[in-house]
Amino acid sequence: MIGLPRHHFDSIGSTNACARELAAQGAAPGTIVTSAEQTDGRGRQGRAWSTPAGKALAWSAIVSLDGEVPGLFPLRAGLAACDAVEELGGGPAEVKWPNDVMLDGRKCAGVLVEGRPQDGWAVVGVGINLTIEPEEFPPEIRDRATSVGSGATLDAATEALNAALARWLAAPDREVLATLERRDHLAGREVSWEGGTGTASGIAPDGSLIVTSPDGTTHHLHAGEVHLTPA
Ligand code: BTN
Repeated sequence: MIGLPRHHFDSIGSTNACARELAAQGAAPGTIVTSAEQTDGRGRQGRAWSTPAGKALAWSAIVSLDGEVPGLFPLRAGLAACDAVEELGGGPAEVKWPNDVMLDGRKCAGVLVEGRPQDGWAVVGVGINLTIEPEEFPPEIRDRATSVGSGATLDAATEALNAALARWLAAPDREVLATLERRDHLAGREVSWEGGTGTASGIAPDGSLIVTSPDGTTHHLHAGEVHLTPA
């Protein structure tokens, strides 16, 4: 069960940072931290994540984890975010490997997993843009970002994420992989990374992105190691 206890804030630096502190102090798995605003929201690869007051949800859950963070783990969170976005009325959502949730080709949610598997826990952070208007996004991401749309409330989004993450954490790998195949935003698209360019051709059982280079070579890209750019 995910969602109890719930620590809710009108404004906070980062729900992930708060959840990590709680977890380090021994908070139980299932505990969530939510906020209607973040002043120091964190994205992947050191980027900032904007959560403007009342127009987006910042949600972080403490989950128990033994050993290494499995490669499929963040993708399970991505599928949970897709389900939540659809339940809120956002329309068909896709996972853009490794951590973006896309609506109509634009990013509406992001996932940041931060773990201390050696201590038996991880924090799954999800930010969902609910009712941010196009002109309210920072200019540098305006043409790539979107919101779920009117009527999406913080509480409804919280409930949807609680249920969806519990479901996807318990799902067998084969169901995760089959659903990722259906929701794979990058499939068939050209991608570039530090080591080359190629066509994305699926997600492997270890969570890596499979890319086929023009010369036919197959590459497995691992989320922590590569930075994708549009080809
Ligand atoms: C990304 O797309 O780079 C990941 C964004 C993750 C943002 C969420 S909002 C809730 C949680 N708290 C944070 O500081 N970050 C995550």
